[in-house]
Amino acid sequence: MPDDRGVTAEPNDERQAEIERAVAVLRAGGLVGLPTETVYGLAGDASNPAAVRRIFEAKGRPPDHPLIVHLGDAAQLDEWAAELPPVAHRLAEAFWPGPLTLVARRGPRAIDEVTGGLPTVAIRVPSHPLTLAVLRAFGGGVAAPSANRFGRVSPTTAQAVRDELGDTVDLVLDGGPCDVGVESTIVDVTVDPPAILRPGGVPAEALERVAGVRLRSSGETRAPGTLPAHYAPALRVVLVERDEVEAVARRHLEAGERVGVLAPAAARGLPAGVTPLAPAGDATSYAQGLYERFREAERLKLDVLLCVPPPAAGIGAAVRDRLQRAARGSLPAEE
Ligand code: TXA
Ligand code: MG
Repeated sequence: MPDDRGVTAEPNDERQAEIERAVAVLRAGGLVGLPTETVYGLAGDASNPAAVRRIFEAKGRPPDHPLIVHLGDAAQLDEWAAELPPVAHRLAEAFWPGPLTLVARRGPRAIDEVTGGLPTVAIRVPSHPLTLAVLRAFGGGVAAPSANRFGRVSPTTAQAVRDELGDTVDLVLDGGPCDVGVESTIVDVTVDPPAILRPGGVPAEALERVAGVRLRSSGETRAPGTLPAHYAPALRVVLVERDEVEAVARRHLEAGERVGVLAPAAARGLPAGVTPLAPAGDATSYAQGLYERFREAERLKLDVLLCVPPPAAGIGAAVRDRLQRAARGSLPAEE
């Protein structure tokens, strides 16, 4: 049965041929745009230093920013990581395949090009069926940052990957729009209790139920009222509370700016001239559509996008984190 991304559980011949093409490109040291359940990745052979260097060049990313190694099976974890505490195995068992990345002491297969020379390595087993099939057929580890140019919005469709990277990527597999829409949750298991380095697709509450302890957090702060900044040349993101939208929108309109609004519910009572984007919905659909809405705001050539954050529970924490980063100008979580 096709699922809602149009991907069949039993790959048909065309899918099988695509999987084989992707594996051939990876073996040859090339780069593949791969769908994951979070965002699209720019994938290369994690054991091939030249392939990994090509990833950094294609993204325009500084080489000391480490990459995540994607595996087809949690059983490979011990080849890539070392000195894993029991909680790491519990988290892997509960959430893989899925939107969780573990940062652990590096194992024998992790090379400096991937880890940026750190003593640790980031690892995850993604759940998108097409990419899982590629990883399993490839057999090794695949380094894959989000498939955007450095500092820009992560792509959540195959078209967005092509728009971001053009010819610098050898092949893009189209697995439909990403289910989760924001990047994986990164958990550092080298410290006790483990620490959440980046909120993401797996909510902190779910991790804590499995870990049995309260995790340290990288410090999510409350949406700070209005805090304008650039993340890309064309768009400023400003966080506002629901009851401030109208007044803030008026100020920007009076300054002669093109103003858009992104809010969980349809924004009512907006001044004429404001462009409402489709309602962002509950936290889950807010996450799913977030990066495409940013791209839409760019296409519409809006000067400023006023965003009303969802509540912080569950995946809402990750959405608020990305909104805050966008407002500060450091999308998409690549520091
Ligand atoms: O959902 C995701 O995680 C997506 C998909 C493609 O899997 N990937 C992704 O990769 O978001 P990237 O490169 O855009 O972000 C990886 C993050 C960076 O913030 C990086 O600094 C961090 O992971 N990271 C990688 N290795 C690390 C390490 N050894 N210690 C701490 N942070 C690490
Ligand atoms: Mg990224």
